[in-house]
Amino acid sequence: MKMGTACVTGASSGIGSAFAEALAREGYHLILTGRREDPLRLLADKLPVPCEVFLGDLREPSICARLSSRLRECADLRMVIHNAGYGHDASFLETPVQALREMGELHVQCATELTRVGAEVMGTGGALILVSSLAAFTPAPGPAMYTATKAFQVALGTALQADLADQGVRLQVLCPGFTHTGFHDRLDWDAERRKNRGLVRWMRAEEVVRRSLRRLHRRSPWAHPVYVPGWSNRLLLLLVRLTPRRLYLALISRMRF
Ligand SMILES: NC(=O)c1ccc[n+]([C@@H]2O[C@H](COP(=O)([O-])OP(=O)(O)OC[C@H]3O[C@@H](n4cnc5c(N)ncnc54)[C@H](OP(=O)(O)O)[C@@H]3O)[C@@H](O)[C@H]2O)c1
Repeated sequence: MKMGTACVTGASSGIGSAFAEALAREGYHLILTGRREDPLRLLADKLPVPCEVFLGDLREPSICARLSSRLRECADLRMVIHNAGYGHDASFLETPVQALREMGELHVQCATELTRVGAEVMGTGGALILVSSLAAFTPAPGPAMYTATKAFQVALGTALQADLADQGVRLQVLCPGFTHTGFHDRLDWDAERRKNRGLVRWMRAEEVVRRSLRRLHRRSPWAHPVYVPGWSNRLLLLLVRLTPRRLYLALISRMRF
C-alpha cells in the first residue's frame, strides 16, 4: 500500500541511504537527493518502490530552492528527512570563510527552508526528521562550525515542536553518535579511530534508522523532539550535561578530534 511520498536528502550513502531502504519497506514512494549520481541511481533501481532522483549541491541556495519547489508540487508528501551533511577536520581559523559559509548553507539555511516548506505542504499526518548529531551538545574547538550548525538544528526543532504539533506534523531531531558511514571516509579516519572506546560505541546506520523510525511512529507529536539513539550516547550526553561548564571547556580544549 502506498504511504505517500517521502523526501530524503543525502540518500546516496550512510544514514540517508538506510532511511530510504527502511521507508521503501514501509511503502513510501521516494524523492532521493545527493550530488553523486551513480550511488543514487543504484539505490533507486534496487528499491521496490518508485524513486525520483534529485541531483544537486544543497549548499547552493538555488538548488535548495529548486528542491523546495519540487516538494511544493508533491500532492501526497508525507515525510521530509533533511539528512545531508558533512564534517570537517580543519580548525575554525584554518577554514576559509567560504567553506564556513557553505556548511552554514547546508546545515542551517537549507535545513530551515526544507522544514518550513515541508511543514506547510504536508499538514496533518506529515513527519519531519532533521538529522543533527550528538556533537550538537559537545561544542568543541576543532569541529567548531560543525557542532555549532548541528546545535542550530536542535534549537530550531525544539523551538518549532509546539507549532508543528498544533498542525499535526511530527518532528524529530535525530542526534546520532559515531556511526559507520561515508562521513568518516571523507575525513580519512582509519580503522584505529573508528574503534569502540569506553562509552564511545559506534553504531550501524541501519540501527540508527530503525530506532529513529520506531521512535517517530510511537511517540505523540507533543513528545520532546530531540532523540539520541543508543544507551551509550545517552549516557555520554548525561555526563556532558552534569559536567560544570568551566570544567567541560577545560577538558574539551585539550581534546583533538
Ligand atoms: N556518521 C556519523 O558518525 C554521524 C554522527 C552524527 C550525525 N551524523 C549526520 O548524519 C548525516 C548523514 O551523514 P552520514 O553519516 O550518513 O555520512 P555520509 O555517508 O557521508 O552521507 C552524507 C550524505 O549527505 C550528502 N551530502 C553531503 N554534502 C552534500 C551537499 N553539499 N549537497 C547535497 N548532499 C550532500 C551526501 O551525498 P553526496 O556526496 O552524493 O552529495 C551523502 O548522501 C549528516 O548530516 C551528519 O552530520 C553523522
